[in-house]
Amino acid sequence: MEARLANILSNYQGKREEVIPLLQAVQNEYSYLPQDAMLEIADFTHVPNSQIYAVATFYAQFRFKPRGENHVMVCRGTACHVSGAARVLEDVEEALGIKEGETTEDLQHSLETVACIGACSLAPCVMINKKVEAKLDKKKVQALFGKGE
Ligand code: FES
Repeated sequence: MEARLANILSNYQGKREEVIPLLQAVQNEYSYLPQDAMLEIADFTHVPNSQIYAVATFYAQFRFKPRGENHVMVCRGTACHVSGAARVLEDVEEALGIKEGETTEDLQHSLETVACIGACSLAPCVMINKKVEAKLDKKKVQALFGKGE
């Protein structure tokens, strides 16, 4: 077992009710839930693999692929929605060649949507890592992801 995972497990007792906290701890460490780690959690908590997987897929917070180096969050809050968030999401998906919830093959970008990033006056907007990109249109999206120059 990998040291990072062993270290995480050492903070728990292997109880059934620790499955979700364990999944959260693993995702915090790896940015996603590696298959091997899920198997180790199953062993550790004596919960069948299928149940671990069922729990992990039930909660939207869990990811099964690594997060990209640049985490792109398209805002779908009310202000952004009325300003064209759906179109922005389509443009970002097209520029990156991935769909919401996916990561590019080179692991450079991952794409998610969020409820509101707290910059409603700048709608429609996107957050890339911790930086807000404001008042997006197709041209700005293409420029941001290197397809418009
Ligand atoms: S609704 Fe998009 S930042 Fe608030």
